[in-house]
Amino acid sequence: MTTRRQFLQSGQALALAGLPLSSKQFSDFRLSETYSATNQTASLKDQAKQLGKMFGSAADRNILSQDSNYRKLLIEECSMITPENSMKWERIRPDYDRFFFDDADWLVDLAASHQMLVHGHNFVWHKQLPAWFDDKVTTGNMEKILVEHIETVAGRYAGRMHSWDVVNEVIAVEHGRPDGLRLTPWLEHLGPDHIELAFRTAAAADPHARLVYNEIGLEFNDDLSASKRSYVLDLLSGLLAKGTPVQALGIQAHLAADLPLDFKSLDRFLSDVAKLGLDVMITELDVSDQALPKDVGVRDRMVAETYRAFLDVVAAHEHVISITVWGLSDRYSWLTEFAPRDDGTPNRPLLLDGDLNRKLAWHAASEALTSASQQ
Ligand code: XIL
Repeated sequence: MTTRRQFLQSGQALALAGLPLSSKQFSDFRLSETYSATNQTASLKDQAKQLGKMFGSAADRNILSQDSNYRKLLIEECSMITPENSMKWERIRPDYDRFFFDDADWLVDLAASHQMLVHGHNFVWHKQLPAWFDDKVTTGNMEKILVEHIETVAGRYAGRMHSWDVVNEVIAVEHGRPDGLRLTPWLEHLGPDHIELAFRTAAAADPHARLVYNEIGLEFNDDLSASKRSYVLDLLSGLLAKGTPVQALGIQAHLAADLPLDFKSLDRFLSDVAKLGLDVMITELDVSDQALPKDVGVRDRMVAETYRAFLDVVAAHEHVISITVWGLSDRYSWLTEFAPRDDGTPNRPLLLDGDLNRKLAWHAASEALTSASQQ
């Protein structure tokens, strides 16, 4: 077990407190007593269950159907899965008048046969839209296209989904609007009301799924995260005031081990979301090691400490109902493509290494869950 004292003496504690690590501190970074492999045998889903939470991972057919060892581990560790790509517009609707459900169906069936829940992702986003989208969509037809899309996809899986990311990443403070909204095709053609429209349409198409507003970049100790948190609270309270059916906030939690978190504000933010009557889902947790030194031991410790520190905060909140990682093993992280390291060495942002062995990060996550359940 990592004691609080050991943690506070560590380099990452300095980084997390907002103090930059000097290169000397990087090279002095030693946590030999910390996260020595525990003898924990329970799966993360069982440990999360003790806290009344689900533990999940992003997953998709292309990987799960080919890698049976990975599939087996994912089924052992997880009580929930999120399709990493297969329910996004570009995949599920390759042509305007043609949907492609095979991969999403496969995943939903796999989940059902292993008692895993499915968290759908997503209906309104500015990325991964299909190639036909820009040519086809006009101000005149966009509402119809969106409504028809949600009715078709949410309707197909109605009764089989735990929850849906209905709207993803619509706050972009840097775009300069007074309401903080991101400039997207949705906003351009439909105005801010497209957000409410998407939630109402999803609620009608699948009355049982929990409907989620999902956002990135809420966790850091900087002005941008702080103002994003406040715009998100305003957006959610505005939606609720209009009676919009939104039941949870999704916090993506794409963290980076060199970027300080803001624990106090995060803790307060979680409480503020609870006061609105909403649940919280941690939807896409990973910890980038892109900017860390080359030494794998140092990297693994800093990544582990970031998991531990973040999970210590979120695990303590009852209304955080799920913790989902964006992949289980470094063998398959999106960061390999999206945030490669300058030195060309493989990224190590997840809980299992490329050989599917538990890393310090796995033990750190496990310890955070265990110690929260002992509070
Ligand atoms: C990422 C996937 O992991 C990649 O495979 C894909 O190429 C790009 O998208 N926020 C989100 C997710 O909401 O959908 C993104 O997933 C990661 C950032």
